[in-house]
Amino acid sequence: MKASPIRCLVTAGPTREFFDPVRFLSNPSSGKMGYALAEAAANRGWEVDLVSGPVSLLVPPGINLEQVVTGQEMYEAVNRRFPDCDILIMTAAIMDYRPKEIADHKIKKFELEMVIEMEPVIDVLATVARHKQHQVVVGFAAETNQMEDYALKKLESKNADFIVANHIGGAEGAFGRNDNTVVVFTRTGQRIPQGPLPKTELAEHLIRLFAGKLEESAPANSKSPDSI
Ligand code: CTP
Repeated sequence: MKASPIRCLVTAGPTREFFDPVRFLSNPSSGKMGYALAEAAANRGWEVDLVSGPVSLLVPPGINLEQVVTGQEMYEAVNRRFPDCDILIMTAAIMDYRPKEIADHKIKKFELEMVIEMEPVIDVLATVARHKQHQVVVGFAAETNQMEDYALKKLESKNADFIVANHIGGAEGAFGRNDNTVVVFTRTGQRIPQGPLPKTELAEHLIRLFAGKLEESAPANSKSPDSI
């Protein structure tokens, strides 16, 4: 009997939170890291679902794409697919807050200040990983400072097996660049620096690392060796 391939769920890109029909809050994520990881996983023979916010990238061949816009839509897409995946890789830069109200018409400008009341967006990773069973869970940490401290906290708070931490912001920041330097933190206390490398090459290294973990946690012969 032919073993089934590894099922990999990747999220990528930014999300948008609208406050009127033509304006939204978002961030400069390009989606490049997530798309590179999806491609590297597919090249390994894994079955890849990619849940993507709005980006201007071509979808690599052989990947099932679901496009979303808001954080809530991303949550629904990930939550629906999580039970059937073997590994979840969350690179998406989800907006943490959304306007409490969305005006149904374009808000006209005034000369005075404008205040938008915001409420938190669901933490997709922490919420789905709370119910993790066999899945390997990978989060990213986008930090401007105290990267290591925050990344270690996210390992716990997001119930992740790996946190891939990178610096964002400023000239050295990861957003939009073709290369990246990261530090991978593991549940077993490892600290693995990677890069600087083009995001495509870095993605191959990361997928190899995650494959090792899948191999450890998979019951013997349940997944195709080729697909690990
Ligand atoms: N994430 C998520 N849902 C959110 C925010 C983030 O699933 N609402 C995921 C990201 O995809 C990433 C990880 O959580 O894998 C860490 O995201 P990051 O933006 O670094 O951290 P936050 O959880 O947003 O916390 P903070 O903004 O305080 O650093």
